[in-house]
Amino acid sequence: MANILKIDTSLRTGISGTHPHGSLSRRLTALFIDQWNEIDSSVQVKHRDLGQNPPPYIDEEWIISEFGYAESEEKAQQRLQLSNEFIEELHWADIIVLGVPMYNFGPPAHLKAYIDHIVRMNKTYSFDLSKEQPYSGLLDHQKTMIILSARGGHDFDSADAPFPNHAEPAIKTAFNFIGIEKFHEIAIEYQEFGGELLAQSIQAAEQKTIALVQDLQH
Ligand SMILES: Cc1cc2nc3c(=O)[nH]c(=O)nc-3n(C[C@H](O)[C@H](O)[C@H](O)COP(=O)(O)O)c2cc1C
Repeated sequence: MANILKIDTSLRTGISGTHPHGSLSRRLTALFIDQWNEIDSSVQVKHRDLGQNPPPYIDEEWIISEFGYAESEEKAQQRLQLSNEFIEELHWADIIVLGVPMYNFGPPAHLKAYIDHIVRMNKTYSFDLSKEQPYSGLLDHQKTMIILSARGGHDFDSADAPFPNHAEPAIKTAFNFIGIEKFHEIAIEYQEFGGELLAQSIQAAEQKTIALVQDLQH
């Protein structure tokens, strides 16, 4: 039985193909879960919708709480409650399915805000100066992260892309730091072009998503 944490981050709340002007990244995350369910109905799924419910940015009070300088332990725990919930979900999940719209060549700001909540010493990483590499990720290294993204432009994965993609690299660096070593990436491109180019990109990404679910289940 697998535990899957599905995290959507598109600000578009509808799903492409089902709702007018719906989100393409949500289309892929929904397809991933539907496909998994078809083969394994015992799957447990939790859904975090950061697009509809963006977390607050961390602030001075958060940092004071995290590093042990809050006025009281009770205040610190209150301020860190959401972060603790996010981290518990990550430890619970075997598979993390992350839907990512590209906004201005990177991940959406609320996904960066989420990452700031989950990178915490002795919760998701440890720091030991006696080691040559002092940082170790504390999430189980067997977890798998699937990044399902959508972009208005195209060819962001080619080496000579005119405008480099900072979305997947930023996400993978942060999640690798906290222990995730297995990543899969699938993207829909050409959203802004529409027509046949978009249709072909959707079809290819959906086929890859279905094949990935089958691979992961064997
Ligand atoms: C605020 C904003 C910024 C965007 N920036 C980019 C960009 O830098 N490069 C790009 O290719 N597409 C960009 N797009 C297009 C989105 O990546 C595209 O609409 C994608 O389908 C969004 O994902 P979603 O369909 O899941 O909402 C941007 C869209 C928005 C709304």
